[in-house]
Amino acid sequence: TAGEPSLTTEIAEKKAANPITKDITILFGSQTGNTQNLAKNHGNRLKELGFNVTVQSMSDFKPNNLKKIQNLLIIVSTHGEGDPPDTAIAFHEFLLGKRAPKLEDFHYSVLALGDSSYEFFCETGKQFDERLEELGGTRLYPRVDCDLDFDEPASEWFEGVVSGLNLQLESTVSNAISSTPLSIQDSGYSRSNPYYAEVLDIIKLNGRGSNKETLHVELSIEDAGITFEPGDSLGIFPNNDPELVELLIKELGFSPTESVTINKQGEVLAFREALLTYYEITVLTKPLLQKFSEIASNPSLDELLAKGNEDKLKAYMNGRDLLDLIQDFGPLKIEAQTFVSLLRKLPTRLYSIASSYQANPDEVHLTIGAVRYHANGRDRNGVCSVQIAERIQPGDKLPIYVQNNENFKLPANPDTPIIMVGPGTGVAPFRSFLQEREEIGAKGKSWLFFGDQHFVTDFLYQTEWQNWLKDGVLTKMNIAFSRDTAEKVYVQHRMLEHSKELFDWLEEGAVLYICGDEKHMAHDVHQTLLTIIQKEGQMSLEQAEEYVAAMNQNKRYQRDVY
Ligand code: 2AM
Repeated sequence: TAGEPSLTTEIAEKKAANPITKDITILFGSQTGNTQNLAKNHGNRLKELGFNVTVQSMSDFKPNNLKKIQNLLIIVSTHGEGDPPDTAIAFHEFLLGKRAPKLEDFHYSVLALGDSSYEFFCETGKQFDERLEELGGTRLYPRVDCDLDFDEPASEWFEGVVSGLNLQLESTVSNAISSTPLSIQDSGYSRSNPYYAEVLDIIKLNGRGSNKETLHVELSIEDAGITFEPGDSLGIFPNNDPELVELLIKELGFSPTESVTINKQGEVLAFREALLTYYEITVLTKPLLQKFSEIASNPSLDELLAKGNEDKLKAYMNGRDLLDLIQDFGPLKIEAQTFVSLLRKLPTRLYSIASSYQANPDEVHLTIGAVRYHANGRDRNGVCSVQIAERIQPGDKLPIYVQNNENFKLPANPDTPIIMVGPGTGVAPFRSFLQEREEIGAKGKSWLFFGDQHFVTDFLYQTEWQNWLKDGVLTKMNIAFSRDTAEKVYVQHRMLEHSKELFDWLEEGAVLYICGDEKHMAHDVHQTLLTIIQKEGQMSLEQAEEYVAAMNQNKRYQRDVY
């Protein structure tokens, strides 16, 4: 990878002369690609230290090979309510199941990624970690659980693993690592070195009278050297809402210009600036409430955090933010510096890219739904989506980076048929897919299922799909508008209406993609897919589940869900 400082081979050879063994496998599993970046970067570092490194997705790993491994590093994220990511399902099932082998002379360590605003924080990583011990493995280094801001803990874990591998290289390695940006692309821009992209245009896609505000956003990457593939996402560093920040400052009574130190490197920002740009203020997490309760010593908050009140706690945190917490359980008699040390870093937002680099290398397009709702007596806004909807204009610049997503890719063979299910903003990557297929003159069939609330106001990119249908770039399209009729119709109903043809496409080798809402839509579409396979393939539910599991294994069932 470009830009990585390399240790002199002399040091590497000397220090690597006496390792436990020189072979290390790194297995990664994630939904968005974070673990893949970490695995690649850490793999490269270990190679420089003289190890024979295999970096592999869990989805490509052959379970029989587990017995041959002596050193295993697992980097895995947790998804939804404590579930493994799609690409880790098969390996997870194997390892936690009865067929997992006893492990001898086996060393491992787990890096778990997660989000502490979810109840089952880092659950998949915890399960792997416990199970490998149970099977006879020895930890090279204790598991590390990372919250959204994973760079620092991931580096610390890696240093620990390296020392666990019996290399006396800690200091050299730690210096090298902390100066190594993660997920470097060829351009040199990355999450730790974002590109400031000029906003070219922001267009409302919904018509007058719609309940929705979906934005088409065009950013310039001209001359930045940034590239991407269909299926990749764009990360944006957002700012918090200045009005909410004002309210918070008033409530807290700190001076907006007071300096606070924001990180271990000793960077300083004015308090107001720190709340605007650096800290998360719109999401409550259990760890935050616990730290808060230690300082506030408020009996009602203690009660909420007590054992047995998990459901009440969850209900409280849902639709409330830091301002509510302070109003409900404050005041806090602490310094501004202590206050900010309670907070998580404001995480970047990922959006599926809606354009093709091949077709338009100077721009990146996004399809962003503005998140607005009323809860607990106040209007609440999505941080990034409403910043773009209300406070960003053409000419402004946004800090961005490309996040590769190997789990959502067009088939390598342009002749392979594709089925795309993408209601609402879930349609974004499919615009990129079709732009790409048009540009390269792909011959494969394609079928789009799109849905939203109303035909007249919410048919996102309507003329583009219709032109592609005319040109044959898009073979088939079925639409479902849920609020135009007395009975709701959804994309899965359209799939079911065409079950015979859909199953035929699958039998011909089609890849099926689902993008959009996870909890309801992707779940229901999955169930419908099972129904279709049972019906048209004359299979039992179990056989249909195996059919989909095999599709998943062969990368023919890919999801980008949120
Ligand atoms: P609804 O809000 O009218 O129920 C894009 O947001 C579209 O996805 C909307 O039409 C929305 O319908 C629909 N949608 C909501 N839940 C869904 C589900 N379970 N399956 C499929 N589509 C769904």
